[in-house]
Amino acid sequence: MNLFILNEKEINEKIAREILDLVKDKPSCVLGLATGSSPLGVYEELAILSKKENISFKDVTTFNLDEYVGLNPSHNQSYRYFMNDKLFSHIDIPIQNTNVPDGINYQDSMDYYDQKIALKGGIDIQLLGIGSNGHIAFNEPGTSCDSFTHVVDLKESTIKDNARFFDSINDVPRKAITMGLASIMQAKKIILIAKGKNKALAIRRLFTEGIDISLPASILKKHDNVDIYCDEEAASLLKGDRAC
Ligand code: GLP
Repeated sequence: MNLFILNEKEINEKIAREILDLVKDKPSCVLGLATGSSPLGVYEELAILSKKENISFKDVTTFNLDEYVGLNPSHNQSYRYFMNDKLFSHIDIPIQNTNVPDGINYQDSMDYYDQKIALKGGIDIQLLGIGSNGHIAFNEPGTSCDSFTHVVDLKESTIKDNARFFDSINDVPRKAITMGLASIMQAKKIILIAKGKNKALAIRRLFTEGIDISLPASILKKHDNVDIYCDEEAASLLKGDRAC
């Protein structure tokens, strides 16, 4: 795993540049996308630069990592809504090229999401955030390394972390559908973004401990093409002792 400790602006610019270079070199590339606050700046940068540099996303296909079970795509906290609002409506990607697991008819996504990714040739770049408990996508501690797209019960800590986006903690869905750890590991390249102090412990564990299902992100150590971007706060507990 390669570690980059940069400020927020540098993180956004560097990742957006890498994605745009991929789109230029391979216009029909497949992007794995994440929600949450961590990738937001990257999406803003992508929207600005793709217009400025006239880079088209018309042949790109995207697959999002996860979705809340029970939220309609039109719900303003659904991940489909987030992606349309924060990225897809700002670039020229045809909406039919964008895939987000279905939080209502989730059986179809459970059965076919990984197949659909494979049929497109697999994910070229997968963006990831990380939960304060070390989850990636919605793969909570204890998730099997062999998991593909599946429905999960969210941990209390994740419900609390994500309550900030809802009117009340009681409105946060208790279940989600998520690509599994095995789905994520099939991506050709993985870029994880960690911003803020509440990620510092998970990042410390990621770089100082071995692979353990209590920290789902630790499976990334088995992948040979992973870049981890941290801001100073997320990297604040590293103290230079890294075991990648
Ligand atoms: C949610 C998402 C994850 C995301 C995490 C961190 O739980 N399912 O994919 O990585 O939140 O979100 P944030 O970037 O807002 O800290």
